[in-house]
Amino acid sequence: MLRRQNVNPNILNEPGGAAGSGRGATGHTTLKEEDLVTALRKTLGIAAASLVLLAATACGGGGSDTASSGGGGNDQITLGFAQVGAESGWRTANTKSIQDSAKDAGINLKFSDAQQKQENQIKAIRSYIQQKVDVIAFSPVVESGWDTVLKEAKDAGIPVVLTDRSVDSQDTSLYVTFLGSDFIAEGKKAGEWTVKNFANASGEVKIAQLEGTTGSAPAIDRAEGFADVIKSDPKLKIVASQTGDFTRAGGKQVTEALLKSNPDITMIYAHNDDMALGAIEAIEAAGKVPGKDITIVSVDAVHDGMQALSDGKINFIVECSPLLGPQLMDVVKKVKAGESVEKRIVTEETTFTPEQAKEALPSRQY
Ligand code: AHR
Repeated sequence: MLRRQNVNPNILNEPGGAAGSGRGATGHTTLKEEDLVTALRKTLGIAAASLVLLAATACGGGGSDTASSGGGGNDQITLGFAQVGAESGWRTANTKSIQDSAKDAGINLKFSDAQQKQENQIKAIRSYIQQKVDVIAFSPVVESGWDTVLKEAKDAGIPVVLTDRSVDSQDTSLYVTFLGSDFIAEGKKAGEWTVKNFANASGEVKIAQLEGTTGSAPAIDRAEGFADVIKSDPKLKIVASQTGDFTRAGGKQVTEALLKSNPDITMIYAHNDDMALGAIEAIEAAGKVPGKDITIVSVDAVHDGMQALSDGKINFIVECSPLLGPQLMDVVKKVKAGESVEKRIVTEETTFTPEQAKEALPSRQY
């Protein structure tokens, strides 16, 4: 790794070191024996210091929480993970999966919560670079604006793994791999169910879309996949589309306003369960029956969403698995060992009807 290579050239270029003692390429100065001994002492002293530095770097950046992996070895991997926030049930399950799997894998995890702000994530990544962690992983809150910080990580020789969400960087050498769902496919699955469900509807089907965080990969891709499929049926119309920021409160607030501006809405397509759950509260408060008066389709399949599906308040859910931890730790180990990994690792996912939700709920992990 580049940061290790940095240690040795620095020693050789040290003003008091052998290279600085007058034995340059021009060979102008010849050292006397005692000068040589002094020079060697200095060099060995610095070399010894460098060994200490190397050991500190190898064990993961010198954080006070860094521990050896047992058996006296100093080979524990340190992973810096910059999480999006705690905006949804999905995110909570994702964080738990990462923390639990790091523990199981014996990986020293440095974890930060960006509270859904890109600048916080950038700060966290810069701090991991300074701490010289072995690998950095993060779920980018939005798609754009990562090139500078990713280049800083690359220049420092620290590999970056994208999990859950991707970036729109043209230079794909800035990250090793992207592990996560195919959000366009998720949007398409929601669209396919919608086309089928309303195949025999007589009039216009008015759809309101609750978008995820503006500029985030899942919000962009789930909208695109859905629109791409429903365009096959001209009676399916998106009449309103607004962000609820992937939160329950956001979904509720947007739906309250929506029910006033578009009281005859047929269906809500929510980019995640939390916003659908917020929409349910708003629909019930307006005296309507969610799942009957207004059809609801969402994405995630977290426990509360699955319960609402099983209760008939949501009509269909496309799964997006948050359990990325075990795969991430495998990737981190491989990357650290210098093994190659696939540039794109897609998570396998399914869909749920109310009947399937009833069956799946008892053994659902999240
Ligand atoms: O990036 C995954 C999305 O982020 C989930 O669908 C949503 O619930 C979360 O907040």
